[in-house]
Amino acid sequence: MKVLLTGANGYIGRRLKKKLLQDASIELKIFVRNKKSLTQEVLDSCEVIEGDTLNKESLRAALKSVDVAYYLIHSLQNANYKELDKLSAQNFIQIATECGVKRVIYLGGLGVKNSQTSEHLLSRIETGEVLSSSASVQTICIRAGVIIGSGSASFEIIRNLVEKLPLMLTPKWVNTYAQPIAVADVLHYLLGALTLEYDKNLIVDIGSKKMPYKEMMMQTAEALGLKRYLIPIPLLSITLSSHWLNLFTPVPFQIARVLVEGLKSEVVIQNENAAIYFPHITPMDYISAVQQAILEIEKKQVISRWSDADGQSWDKRHLNEISDAIFVDRKERDISDYDKHELFEVVCAIGGANGWFAYDFLWEIRGRFDKAIGGAGINRGRRDERALRVGESLDFWRVADVVEDERLLLYAQMKLPGDGWLEFKIEENRLIQSAYFFPKGLLGRIYWYALIPLHYLVFTNMIESILDKCKKRSDSTKADAKRV
Ligand SMILES: NC(=O)c1ccc[n+]([C@@H]2O[C@H](COP(=O)([O-])OP(=O)(O)OC[C@H]3O[C@@H](n4cnc5c(N)ncnc54)[C@H](OP(=O)(O)O)[C@@H]3O)[C@@H](O)[C@H]2O)c1
Repeated sequence: MKVLLTGANGYIGRRLKKKLLQDASIELKIFVRNKKSLTQEVLDSCEVIEGDTLNKESLRAALKSVDVAYYLIHSLQNANYKELDKLSAQNFIQIATECGVKRVIYLGGLGVKNSQTSEHLLSRIETGEVLSSSASVQTICIRAGVIIGSGSASFEIIRNLVEKLPLMLTPKWVNTYAQPIAVADVLHYLLGALTLEYDKNLIVDIGSKKMPYKEMMMQTAEALGLKRYLIPIPLLSITLSSHWLNLFTPVPFQIARVLVEGLKSEVVIQNENAAIYFPHITPMDYISAVQQAILEIEKKQVISRWSDADGQSWDKRHLNEISDAIFVDRKERDISDYDKHELFEVVCAIGGANGWFAYDFLWEIRGRFDKAIGGAGINRGRRDERALRVGESLDFWRVADVVEDERLLLYAQMKLPGDGWLEFKIEENRLIQSAYFFPKGLLGRIYWYALIPLHYLVFTNMIESILDKCKKRSDSTKADAKRV
């Protein structure tokens, strides 16, 4: 069976890709906007089409000779996600029909259309309707509400609130009912849909036991071994709640707002098709899903995170723009006495809980300020303590390029009056650390000049601290080797 996976770099797509690659009966093709974000192992094991669903030619290349296509495209990170998602689904089903695709499997959102339905959910429902509109392509819409897994937005919101706040004043929406589901179960349904013997369009609503959000919070606290107290208040302020989530969780205001709007109405299953068509799948209960997510985090086995997808094909554009940078803060050090591989490992451990090598409190202040003005903020952290992959978020940066032992390039995603990059290069016996900035207008220039003293402090100490860390590391490795 020839299968196309779209959205393969997204939260669900990355996990599904891993499963599909393990199935020898499947000839897998994947569709991504940024090929560089894939590992060599993935590039070697399947056909990769780089493209965009807004570009019909790339869709033709992707959907050619495909039997079943997974549609996991979502543009939530863009302010105009509704228009983009509609156009994307229209293009996709048109080309899928042209190419004779037999089945499209879409993962959408749970819920019903009524006056309470949030714009986000309406858009997810509309996407399902567009994808189901072909006379010759069968569409299976699997609809999930809150997905619980390591790195999922919903789980990260609940976990952060529960971990950080022993006592919570909870707005009315915590009484809204939902049917959460573990990400592992979502993958079971998606994989099951591949071989389901049924030839008409189908909507399959999935979820475990129905429960209010406050119950999810309390069970999460239990799984984390924490005692928490919720004090209900009779308010349902979307804006206030969104600011609250922006402040206490890694999710930025724009996404928090979209998600909180969805909390007004119940997200519970509307049909029994999961039990009818997938009787062999019994979704795990909420607390088990949370425990599994926590275990993955503890074992550092987080496959994907909500912040992996970026909302734009930024990679090539930003890589090209680096040469346009008007301001450069460049520091160079001789590294003849250093192990280059070890040095690169130290550089790649930048950010997240490892810190920013020097003046972490200044980065923290910058992060808080960034969140306050609607940016990503510094607390998206790292997926993995050591490894970095192109395309993933790293605090308020995005990894733009990684060339083993040679180069790490980060693109700044904090709110800036311009475009910024931070680059580390190992060239022969030199470590070169450069901060590039392309200012937008006068404000951009004022910003750069105003920060020169801070940049001097931060960047000078950064390169020194990298060398220092590397030295300490190799000294301790040598000491360990001697002891052995
Ligand atoms: N995650 C959840 O908690 C959850 C819950 C319920 C339902 N769902 C549903 O599951 C589906 C997948 O969600 P997700 O969380 O995995 O989304 P996601 O992490 O935001 O990933 C979306 C993917 O779509 C790709 N994409 C967006 N616009 C594109 C375009 N024009 N051309 C090509 N690719 C494009 C992105 O590519 P880039 O990587 O290049 O940005 C990304 O890989 C969605 O329909 C969502 O409604 C998710």
